[in-house]
Amino acid sequence: ASGLTVLGIESSCDESAVAIYDTSAGLLGHHLFSQIELHQIYGGVVPELASRDHIRKMIPLIKQLMNEVNQSQIEPIKVDAIAYTQGPGLMGALLSGSAIAASLAYAWKVPALGVHHMEGHLLAPMLETNPPAFPFIALLISGGHTQIIRVDDIGQYKLLGDTLDDAAGEAFDKTAKMLGLGYPGGPIVSKYALNGDPDRYHFPRPMLDRPGLDMSFSGLKTFSLNTWQNAVKQGVDTDQTRADICRAFELAVAETLTVKCKRALIATGINRLVVSGGVSANRAIRASLTALMQQRGGEAYFPRLEFCTDNAAMIAFAGAQRLQAGQHNPTLNFSAKARWP
Ligand code: KG4
Ligand code: ZN
Repeated sequence: ASGLTVLGIESSCDESAVAIYDTSAGLLGHHLFSQIELHQIYGGVVPELASRDHIRKMIPLIKQLMNEVNQSQIEPIKVDAIAYTQGPGLMGALLSGSAIAASLAYAWKVPALGVHHMEGHLLAPMLETNPPAFPFIALLISGGHTQIIRVDDIGQYKLLGDTLDDAAGEAFDKTAKMLGLGYPGGPIVSKYALNGDPDRYHFPRPMLDRPGLDMSFSGLKTFSLNTWQNAVKQGVDTDQTRADICRAFELAVAETLTVKCKRALIATGINRLVVSGGVSANRAIRASLTALMQQRGGEAYFPRLEFCTDNAAMIAFAGAQRLQAGQHNPTLNFSAKARWP
């Protein structure tokens, strides 16, 4: 590998992930250990357990990745820098990854750079073979964020729209919980929605009657709850009803996001749409946004499915872009930021 070789470390929530990205050779390898099973019995992520498991898993993952990458290359690789998720996320989980990054940087005598988790998601589609050119409109939809951003270049981001309450992923997770479908909610709701009747229930389309690009998803979650409670009262609290609610809910989220993106494209005159973050794995949302871009003669860009949700490839990539632009952290100091706008 002849470019800048960056080891990425992601530990903001419940995935321990590592990746190596080289600016000339591309992504050399990546690994992820999901803690889903650890947290499943609690119905959500338990921060303290997440931190401990990151500490347990991260070093073995890095060793495994380094071995594999070295075997696949003619010469052993030399890591030039480390990029780690500095925030936002769970404080203890972030600290685990940051401390490992800083320790390795000290041992290897290379710089370590903190990366914004959402910048990672934002740039994830650029890891694919047909990356978007600047400028583009980005829809970031994850468990903690729902944002429409104008991207003019690396580091040049303008927030155009945001959720006023719950994030889109949060609404999926809460809907799943109310229907007794467990955690994590997004993939389960999507799966149920496949068998759902789109005509049985009609959910509202929040904020579409108002101008602007802001969004709101807490009402949909309440609508799911009321619909389910009525079904329980009527004795039709079946799996079919669950599927029908999931379908109606998903359609409402997809249409809301699509209309807001359309407005952003029209307002800016930009015809490239990047969609990223965990919720971008959703089939109905992908289909709706792809159709929008087809109608407009533009292009929609999504990360491959495994890079929609949390991963370290996007962190290594974002870190490499920042390092190439001259940004670096000359000290080994690190500060995790649980909140980071
Ligand atoms: O990006 P991500 O892995 O972590 C955060 O940075 O939040 O996103 C996780 C979110 C969760 O709310 C999860 O339920 C949602 O993404 N999600 C999905 C799907 N897969 C994951 N939501 C809808 N459909 C999916 N297929
Ligand atoms: Zn994320």
